[in-house]
Order: sequence, then structure tokens, then C-alpha cells
Amino acid sequence: MERLFDKNTQAIFWNNNKTAIQRMLDYDYVIKRETPSVAAIVAPTSSNKFEKFFWGGDEIMVPVFRNTADAKAACPNADVLLNFASFRTAYDVTMEALEIGGFRVMMITAEGIPERLARKMNNAARKAGVTVIGPATVGAIAPGAFKIANIGGTIENIINSKLHRTGSCGLVTRSGGLFNELSNIISINADGIAEGVAIGGDRFVGSTFIDNMLRMEKNPDVKYMVLLGEVGGREEYKIIEAVKDGRITKPIVAWCIGTIAKHFSSGVQFGHAGASANADEETAVAKNQAMKEAGIYVPDSFNDLPAKINEVYTKLKNEGIITEIEEPEINTIPKVRRPKQFVCTISDDRGEEATYAGFPISSVATPDTGKSIGDVISLLWFKKVYPKWATDFIETVIKTVADHGPAVSGAHNAKVTARAGKSVVEALVTGLLTIGPRFGGAIDGAAQYFKYAHDNDMTPAEFLNYMKKQGIPIPGIGHRIKSLKNPDKRVEGLKKYAKEFFPSTTLLDYALTVEQLTTSKKENLILNVDGTIGILMVDMWRALGYTEEEIDEFIASGTLNSFFIVGRSIGFIGHILDEKRLAMPMYRHPMDDILYNVEKAEEIK
Ligand code: ACO
Ligand code: LMR
Repeated sequence: MERLFDKNTQAIFWNNNKTAIQRMLDYDYVIKRETPSVAAIVAPTSSNKFEKFFWGGDEIMVPVFRNTADAKAACPNADVLLNFASFRTAYDVTMEALEIGGFRVMMITAEGIPERLARKMNNAARKAGVTVIGPATVGAIAPGAFKIANIGGTIENIINSKLHRTGSCGLVTRSGGLFNELSNIISINADGIAEGVAIGGDRFVGSTFIDNMLRMEKNPDVKYMVLLGEVGGREEYKIIEAVKDGRITKPIVAWCIGTIAKHFSSGVQFGHAGASANADEETAVAKNQAMKEAGIYVPDSFNDLPAKINEVYTKLKNEGIITEIEEPEINTIPKVRRPKQFVCTISDDRGEEATYAGFPISSVATPDTGKSIGDVISLLWFKKVYPKWATDFIETVIKTVADHGPAVSGAHNAKVTARAGKSVVEALVTGLLTIGPRFGGAIDGAAQYFKYAHDNDMTPAEFLNYMKKQGIPIPGIGHRIKSLKNPDKRVEGLKKYAKEFFPSTTLLDYALTVEQLTTSKKENLILNVDGTIGILMVDMWRALGYTEEEIDEFIASGTLNSFFIVGRSIGFIGHILDEKRLAMPMYRHPMDDILYNVEKAEEIK
């Protein structure tokens, strides 16, 4: 790996840390990234499917998943894990992500992960070839390409420190605060940063100074490096070795902070867990001296560091190794931003012509387009282009359920309402309101229960028994007038179509074995039109490659009954117009058709 990140790098952000994510997206917008750097959020306790974030003055949706596996499956290109879990959870999150695989870089922000676990985690990552940044870090940045969360601070600070575009320096620090300070120093005394990493303050960090600097040695954007070490540990000696044996050839400016420690009689523990010298060689003074002797540019004090950086930068510029950077144009974030109240993901009327799931209406509306109502439904309900066998099936369903005469619950209601002088829409709605578990609205239930029974390998008898225990009639079974002797031709038609055009009809085949059993008990307990539609839709979706979870979600949201609602609206409207055409008077139900069983009221004394 030459570069840690580029302009296409995307991350999965573990934890719904909205402020940090917004900072990343603001950065993306400012540097004119095309894709957001956060592809998905993992939030185990959230029931949200997405979070809205500003993208400049506009807003975008970032999908939310309950676990890393789902997020990774949905966003396979996101190869960076930003692990913002607490110190209690961070280890498990990292280990699970290593198991899932497909991550190139993992950043762990938590401070206080037990050292034993941190070592285990870092070793596992190293074995898997994954670069870990942290724990206990603000992260890393590839200016002009990708920035982790809060590194670099506010957008104003980022631009002031020239972190919005690629410079020439490879910067490595332990601390995030000093990283920001140094970025600023480098922007003033040189031309900014090409890649920067705050490796974290813990004693055991995943990627060390040497790991990052060896990568920067290969990164063509990095022309020289700045290393800000710390008292404690021996990591700086690995850099010295690499310089000596030629693995690092680019100039390095380095300083180890903590030289003050020599003025104290006993060992000093600085802010970081790793910042304490356990031997003379680990003191800042000894390390600075050793680095100087190896030919690394070491200033006389921290105060002289800016001048040293400028010296090396100017030298490289004079040698033609660093060339002038053309300042790129950037976007500015509007001062006032208003979150949007509504979200629409199916159609857009803002352009010259409105679209259905991205398709202009004219591309699906007229006969020459070859598109049907089935296509329009697949676009507007499922945001997908379905193959012809599926759109033809949808259209067949709509036509099949359009009407079943005036006597059925809904048509009756619509007729009575129309005759009360109400409008088409009012009468239609009263008809639609009858659609439910007994009439026309058993489609979702049929899909749900038959799918459940089949997936749990229930025999038809076990299924019947199970439903009996639930205390509900099997949705999709039974009809008032249709029976074995008087078969429902609509059902015949749908089955015939599916047998001919569906790649597979597994659930239908199962339902037919259930029907055999129910009709053996009573001949009107046939697989009815609702049942056939529900079951075949599941077969259709499975053949179209939907996951079981997606299908369950369709069912739970009432998608299947919606086919009946659309189809039967055609018939209801027909009945309503029929009433109006015939100028039918108000309806009153004949009293002799009502069993009056009203007891005399008791008097209250
Ligand atoms: N599952 C199990 N047993 C059933 C079912 C069923 N789906 N439907 C009826 N039965 C049994 C009843 O328990 C009853 O048994 P019993 O005689 O031992 O008491 C017997 O069959 C007759 O029941 P009824 O309710 O009188 O049957 P009816 O013919 O009136 O009902 C109905 C028809 C309402 C469709 C019923 O079968 C049912 O509720 N089915 C499930 C819901 C359904 O699929 N509705 C959609 C129908 S199609 C459409 O509307 C477009
Ligand atoms: C319908 O389609 O409305 C029916 O199957 C219900 C019925 O009672 O005919």
C-alpha cells in the first residue's frame, strides 16, 4: 500500500457519532469529493435505516446498519473501519471486523482498552495485513482525499492549516492535539501535508512510527517526513535503523518531546500511557541525540522545529524535488443550513421531466416504450427494473383482481356510499376500507405464514396445527363461493402463468400440498386468489434475488395487499360510476333482511 487513503476511499463508521460524521462529510464537500467518505454507519441499538447529513447546503442519507457484517455486505467497497466504540466494546468490534474481512485500514479511537487485549487485537490485525491506527487516537488524514472524523479540527482550521489539499510532508505524531499544531506549523513553514497519522498515545498501538513511515517512503506525494516522538518506548530507534540501512531515504525532521524530564529526579509519566521512560535510552534527550547522529534533522529545541522544517522544505524546493502547488478551488459550506422535513427516494419532479426511480415518465408511459403498469409499479414500489416475466406477472395480478362482482364486501360498500350521494373518491375509500384479513387483504398474511411454515419444514398437518394454536384461519385459504367443485379460474390462471414463466415455484408447490389437506376437510378451503398471489410474489422475489430479510420487510409493510388495493380500485370505481350513471337513489337495507334482537331497556330507578 503506497497511500493510506485516496479520493475514493470510503469508511464504515462504527457508532452513530453524528458530529464527527458531519465533519467528515463537510470536509468531503469542501474538497469536492464525489462520494461521501462515510458509506455506512453501524449503530447496534438504532432502529433507524439512515441518518441525514448535510452535503454542503443540501442533504444526503447515510445508511444505518445494526451490525458490521450487514454494513460491509451492503457497502463492499468501504474498506476502512472507523471504530468509535467505547473502550469496553472496541476490541470486540475490531476482532469481528477482522473476521468479516475486506477492511484495509481500521482506526480505533477508544482510550483505555486493556493492554492485554490491545496487543491481541494489534497482532491479529497485523497478521491479517490490516493497518490499525490507534487505539487512543484522532486518526489520520490524506489532505484533499480523506480525513478521519475530527482530525485537523474545524473546517476553518483545516483550511488555515492547508489540510484541504495535498502537500509534501508525511507527518507522524502520537498525539492528535500536537498533530493539529504541527499541521499548522508545516502549513506556515512549508507547503502542507501529503499524509498524516496520529498513531495514538497508548503503550501498544497498532501501526507504529516505522510502519507509517515505511509506507510514506513509498508514497510518491510524500517528499520528506516530520516525526514528533515522545519520551518513552524505543520506536524512534527503529526509524534510526531504517535510515541507516536505507529503507528510508527521504529526509526526516524529528523531535522527541519530553526533554524536560531530565530536570526531574525521578521518572515522569506524561499524558499518554506510553509516555514514560523505562530506561536511559527511552528518554527524549537520548532519542533526539541518537536521531541527530543518524543524520535525521533534529532541531535544538521544540521552538526551533518550525525553522528546521522550513530549512528542509526550502532545500528540497531548491533541488526541484518539491514543486509549487497550485491551490485548488474549494467549495464553501453555507453559513445557514436547514434540515429537510421529508425524504423521497422514488421519484423526482425537479428537472425538465419528472422521473420514476430515475426514468423519465416518457420512457415508460407510451406504448412504443414497451413498458407496462407492471414496470411502473416495479419502479415506484421497488425502485428496480424487473424482468418482463415479473412485470407481466404484476400486471396479470392487477388485472386478475380488478373486480369480482357487486356482491363482495368492498364493491357493496362503494355502491352504498355512491348512492348516498358521495363523490367518487369518498365512495372509493369506503370500498377500500373493507380490504383486510378476510377480504382481499389476506395476501401479506398468506405470504408470511406459508413462508414461515415452509422455511421451518412444517408438514401441512403441522402447519394446520400451528395455525389452530395461533387461533387464526390460514390466510389465503378458503372462499365463500369457490371450491373444488367450483374452482376459481383466477387462481388457475395465476398458477398456469407461474408454472410457465417463473424460474421456480417452490412456495406455491408447498401451498398446494397444504390445499390438498384443507380441501380434504372441507371443499371450499381452497388456496384462494389472495393466497395464490401472496405465495407467488414470494417465489417471484426469491427468483429476483431479494434476501429473506428484504422479503419479510415487504410483507411487514403491507406491500402485497397493495396489489389488491390497486387492482380492486379499478373495479370499485367502475361500480361507483355505474351507480352514478344509473342515478341510483339512496339505498336502505330491507328490514326483513335484519334479525332484530333488541331487549327492552331496563329502567334506572
Ligand atoms: N383456515 C382454516 N380453516 C378455515 C379457513 C381457513 N382459512 N377458512 C375457513 N375455515 C374453516 C372454519 O374454521 C370453519 O370451520 P368449522 O366448520 O369447523 O367451524 C369452516 O371452515 C367454515 O368457515 P367460514 O368462516 O364459515 O367459511 P367461509 O366460507 O364463510 O369464509 C373466508 C370464507 C372468510 C374467506 C374464510 O375462509 C377465511 O377467513 N379465509 C382466510 C382469509 C382469506 O384468505 N381471505 C381472502 C379470501 S379471497 C378474497 O377476499 C379476494
Ligand atoms: C373477491 O375477489 O372479491 C373475492 O374472491 C371475494 C368474494 O367473495 O368473491
